[in-house]
Amino acid sequence: MKLLKTKGEVQLLRASVRDSGNSLGLVPTMGALHQGHLHLVKTALSENDEVLVSIFVNPTQFNNSKDLEKYPKTLEEDLNKLQSLEGSIHVFAPEVSEMYGEEVRSRNYNFEGLDKFMEGAFRKGHFEGVGTIVENLLRLILPDRAYFGEKDYQQLQIIRKLVSEREIPVEIIPCPIIREADGLAMSSRNRQLTKRLRKKAAFIFKSLKKAQLEFGTKSAVELKEEISRAYAEDPDFELEYFEISHAESLKPVKRPRKNEKYRAFVAAYLGEVRLIDNIALN
Ligand code: PAJ
Repeated sequence: MKLLKTKGEVQLLRASVRDSGNSLGLVPTMGALHQGHLHLVKTALSENDEVLVSIFVNPTQFNNSKDLEKYPKTLEEDLNKLQSLEGSIHVFAPEVSEMYGEEVRSRNYNFEGLDKFMEGAFRKGHFEGVGTIVENLLRLILPDRAYFGEKDYQQLQIIRKLVSEREIPVEIIPCPIIREADGLAMSSRNRQLTKRLRKKAAFIFKSLKKAQLEFGTKSAVELKEEISRAYAEDPDFELEYFEISHAESLKPVKRPRKNEKYRAFVAAYLGEVRLIDNIALN
């Protein structure tokens, strides 16, 4: 397994992968790898001859500097986890200056409203930061396919939009959400939870399952209110949003239509830790 630190090294790798007639899959991450990430890497390995995993804690997508400081950095462990997988894996772990030079700034994007709701509304500038780094990685690496988790479903939709608007020649492959035994979606942030709050975190998936079960029998407004009330009953939770939205436009729904797809989305603080999750409703 090769560890690359510079854009120049990535360009050389890209050329040699192309020369050998191999396909290349890209899995962008911010490290602190868990089974959710490894599932993306395994899927990429099964569909490409070689896989590049990027590990880069992207400063421009953090709207909160404390959150950026607290973000776990575990490169050594991450490399060991990737090493344990079978297949041709390369890792690109650049410094901030390598990706941004002197100006650590986002580009402006028009995501046609996809960023107006949920994460976009609560984390100002977040998706501009994500768009900037993902576009830079895609243009540098030119992978055949790039893999993203449905855990960050709004991010996935935004990246699909970015790639089609800017005509970046890459196939975006969505991957399902990988969960712990109690349903909690795997996340690098889970390790920041105390034991007590970690137990409580299972409620997030329960609330999504309730929405899934009762979607269609109760109105979206009723469901949202009921579930929001359940969060309010536990002072350890601070709910940012519980939303029921169209699966493509991400617009909050009032009256669902028969042939359209919908999802429920949640963001909540447990103590200081902000967790997000979502589920398909139909
Ligand atoms: P990060 O949070 O490290 O996630 C990297 C990828 O792993 C994302 O596509 C995310 O959706 C996926 N992922 C995380 N947890 C998952 C889970 N439990 N099941 C399935 N997939 C999961 O998302 C980012 O990094 C960044 O925004 C990035 C795209 C790398 C840009 O900086």
